Amino acid sequence: MVLGSGFGEATSALTVEREFAYRDLPGFSVGTVNGHAGRLLIGAWKGVPLAVLSGRAHYYEGFEMAESTFPIRVLSALGIDTLLLTNAAGGINPRFKVGDFMVLTDHINLMGANPLRGPEPDGLNRFVDLTQAYDVSLRDRALAAAKRAKVKAHAGVYVAVSGPSFETPAEIRAFSTLGADAVGMSTVPETIVARQLGMRVAGLSCITNAAAGLGGKGQVVSHLDVMELARQRSSHAMRFLGELIPELSSDSGEA
Ligand code: HPA
Repeated sequence: MVLGSGFGEATSALTVEREFAYRDLPGFSVGTVNGHAGRLLIGAWKGVPLAVLSGRAHYYEGFEMAESTFPIRVLSALGIDTLLLTNAAGGINPRFKVGDFMVLTDHINLMGANPLRGPEPDGLNRFVDLTQAYDVSLRDRALAAAKRAKVKAHAGVYVAVSGPSFETPAEIRAFSTLGADAVGMSTVPETIVARQLGMRVAGLSCITNAAAGLGGKGQVVSHLDVMELARQRSSHAMRFLGELIPELSSDSGEA
């Protein structure tokens, strides 16, 4: 599991067996964004063995995509076959309210880069099929888990931009036309790498704000507001994850 903004508190529910700071792990980049701790935790939640990447190194911080997605390759090398990616996102779909969650059905990569660019790793295919980037069975389990947790979750398409500036209202109108339901600055590189490695991927967004131009008169989009809303929703995020995680392990479904 990768914990983005709004999901960081989930580490408190984990029975931690081993804990590593990214700075002590060869090849791991250390992000600097508030609310991102930069720790790999290995343990269990409700009896489900779990490795948790708490904090990510974002593309907008200046890391190469290959660098910021390296931890995903490590998780795969550890034998992990199911990946849950979480993030904060701006809501584009008018049905989405601030504080709702979105379960990713698909993504649009407008980051202008791809983590697989470069030499093809031994034994891996660079021409990765993304027809079903997000696992359908995991998505359905996530939507069902949200119901049990009594949190509002929509299915939707995540558009990833490089940031770090937020979008203009014209860009958000364009993304809406393109079919996007929420916008953010992460997750997509990790999904692409995980799919190259054959992992099953689920993605969850916490809708922390109305995307630019959709929040009414006088609205501005601010990182502080995103972090604050994410913090306010962290107990909901915990409930949601608490229902979902027991459903994630590969043997808890037919997939
Ligand atoms: N835009 C991009 N990334 C985001 C947003 C947004 O409105 N909210 C949280 N992450």
